[in-house]
Amino acid sequence: MIIAVDGSAASGKGTLAKRLAAHYDLAHLDTGALYRCLALHLITEGRTATNVTESEAAGAVGSIDLLMAGSAAIRTDAVAGMASVVAAMPAVRQNFVSLQRQFATQTPNRRGAVLDGRDIGSVILPDADFKFFIDADLEERARRRTKELQESGQSAMFRDVFEDMQDRDRRDRERSEAPLKAAEDALVIDTTRLDADSVFAVATSHIDGNTNPKRR
Ligand code: DC
Repeated sequence: MIIAVDGSAASGKGTLAKRLAAHYDLAHLDTGALYRCLALHLITEGRTATNVTESEAAGAVGSIDLLMAGSAAIRTDAVAGMASVVAAMPAVRQNFVSLQRQFATQTPNRRGAVLDGRDIGSVILPDADFKFFIDADLEERARRRTKELQESGQSAMFRDVFEDMQDRDRRDRERSEAPLKAAEDALVIDTTRLDADSVFAVATSHIDGNTNPKRR
């Protein structure tokens, strides 16, 4: 079973993807972490959002350290900002396609995978068995992200987080290559007034109600 979970920043898509993977015993890939690892690599090399070129960024895809995907270093707002800039570059996106498709089709236990990101259901895995598109009001998402940053010991002001997120949203939604938008066959879940348990319940009842038992 292949599940695509797309959506905006701090919408709850990552939490949902992790919980679905654990519940159905599937492998999980946070594809945003790929763009963040690339962004961190480029920042470390002295590149900034204004001086990085597309060919440089695309060329660096092969040198990123995927072990950084689990580290707190990729979770800063500076890395997120750079990630949204490089994610708008078609050559960068192209260089990440095969890695994501391979992950989905060659999972160790062969049960399948959950991938979360922005273009999983629309571009990377258009034939996924289930597609979800998770979104919430910008204010609510900025509130969640501010709380998350403060709880992890980083200083964060709601207004700054809100403005950063607004800029990133604009870049993600308005880019010409694989913009953030719901695939036509995705189930859209607005999490503005839903907690993580309710979102999980909506998603699992959708899957369980539509799964051919032979494929489980
Ligand atoms: O989900 P996130 O905040 O970790 O993603 C970081 C950036 O990468 C964000 O600006 C969107 C971009 N991204 C993307 O364009 N496509 C994906 N499949 C995943 C993330």
